[in-house]
Amino acid sequence: MKRNLLDLKFYSLAENVGITRMLIASVGAQLDLSLNDIEELKVVVSEAVSNSIIHGYANHPDKLVHLTIEQNPEALKIIVKDEGCGIPDVEQAMQPAFSTDPERMGLGFVFMQSFMDDLQVESAVNQGTTVTMIKQLDKIQPSTH
Ligand SMILES: Nc1ncnc2c1ncn2[C@@H]1O[C@H](COP(=O)(O)OP(=O)(O)OP(=O)(O)O)[C@@H](O)[C@H]1O
Ligand SMILES: [Mg+2]
Repeated sequence: MKRNLLDLKFYSLAENVGITRMLIASVGAQLDLSLNDIEELKVVVSEAVSNSIIHGYANHPDKLVHLTIEQNPEALKIIVKDEGCGIPDVEQAMQPAFSTDPERMGLGFVFMQSFMDDLQVESAVNQGTTVTMIKQLDKIQPSTH
């Protein structure tokens, strides 16, 4: 499996979440991942991107979200970065069911944690948030479709 790199910047618009889902699905399909793995990648990318839009940028549409997808024979690395409000307490934010919005479930980080092999969240208040997720590819059985 060869190396690849995709780097995308887009406005913080809800409609771009679907575009990032299609992008990661297409990367997953090229890697011959199972439909289940592809579904999980779509979930983690859309959760991280939605967090940047909804929380990081409070739905202001003219801010930039940055998505990087790096692929090598061993792993797929997905980085979602914003320059938004930041997270004051990352450990607390990552707790299941924690949300600063009473209307939300607080499950985004739970999905990212459980579907990926590694999750790192770096954040600074008023500077922004970078979420780095890794899926190991060397452990995955190629799909049999
Ligand atoms: N990019 C970000 N910028 C600022 N705050 C964030 C960011 N991502 C997450 N957070 C904070 O972390 C909390 C937990 O995020 P998580 O995705 O787990 O839950 P949620 O977004 O509140 O709910 P859900 O994802 O279930 O809709 C958020 O409520 C928010 O306060
Ligand atoms: Mg969320």
